[in-house]
Amino acid sequence: MKILGIESSCDETGVAIYDTQRGLLAHTLYSQVKLHAEYGGVVPELASRDHIRKILPLIDECFKQAQCSHHDVDGIAYTYAPGLVGALMVGAAFAKSLGFAWGLPTIPVHHMEGHLLSPFLEDKKPEFPFVALLVSGGHTELYHVKGVGNYILLGETFDDAAGEAFDKTAKLLGLPYPGGKELAALAASGTPRFPLPLPLLGKESLDFSFSGLKTAARLLIEKNANLSDPGGLGWACDVAASFEQALVETLVVKSLRALKQTGLQQLVISGGVSANQRLRARLTEETSKIDTQVFYPRLEFCTDNGAMIALVGALKFASSKTYSLEIEVKARTCI
Ligand code: KG4
Ligand code: ZN
Repeated sequence: MKILGIESSCDETGVAIYDTQRGLLAHTLYSQVKLHAEYGGVVPELASRDHIRKILPLIDECFKQAQCSHHDVDGIAYTYAPGLVGALMVGAAFAKSLGFAWGLPTIPVHHMEGHLLSPFLEDKKPEFPFVALLVSGGHTELYHVKGVGNYILLGETFDDAAGEAFDKTAKLLGLPYPGGKELAALAASGTPRFPLPLPLLGKESLDFSFSGLKTAARLLIEKNANLSDPGGLGWACDVAASFEQALVETLVVKSLRALKQTGLQQLVISGGVSANQRLRARLTEETSKIDTQVFYPRLEFCTDNGAMIALVGALKFASSKTYSLEIEVKARTCI
């Protein structure tokens, strides 16, 4: 069975074709990052318009790369939530229209379920059950994953998501939007010499709160900005390293707690922040001490993409396919 997947929840247009026998056949992606960079964040109306411009060429190119046509496809999966409503509408409307024209069912997929199951796109796959740390621009959550569609929320953020905290701190350091990756690059040549708070929220808690850390980083940066001789690049690298270390250690402590509390021995990390090398290295180091394996998607599938949507569409084909033309998208909703 082959599924065409369409992702358009934010500022990436992603398309992919996933085959249940052969795995991922092809994927195409267009990032609008440059379009939004001058505004310092995603402009929803511009995002929707650009998805409209890019989606059909990306679908054409994807079929070409997969060396097949819509006659070979069994269904069309699309992201229905969460995200920018206008942007989601584009993907949903195209999916429904193509489904109608080609006589194919559509499968609505939750964006975060795409991230959650994205390590199944890799050769090294986890087995159910496992703990999942979902860390993206809008979400920071820990789940006990029992099977496809069977997720128990263990903890979530009370305020900012990990990626959001990365991006806001990066902006204060004068880095371009979105900034998480750029902050990590600065941190790589810095020393984490500034003590910043580690928001652990009590001994057993699996919830997160990054606003205190973000504020402490802001005060540190502003204090320096007021000096007549600013710290320069070396100083910025040290601030970035201090921030990254505090945030990553929080994620590590909570993930280890979740493993201990559930008694599970597999950890999945996914979402944009799972591309962070310090996070990967620290989790690999700590979990190796407790005989636990860590699974994550390849770097290009940590951030938004169509492959994870096609994959989940294939996994949920039997239970979620519909021929209805009604378009329902949601800005916010749980998995
Ligand atoms: O999953 P994603 O593409 O979009 C959402 O679903 O939100 O995640 C994007 C987030 C952004 O906040 C971005 O700055 C962050 O992931 N990110 C990183 C890194 N690469 C992307 N954060 C830290 N280190 C990275 N290497
Ligand atoms: Zn995402």
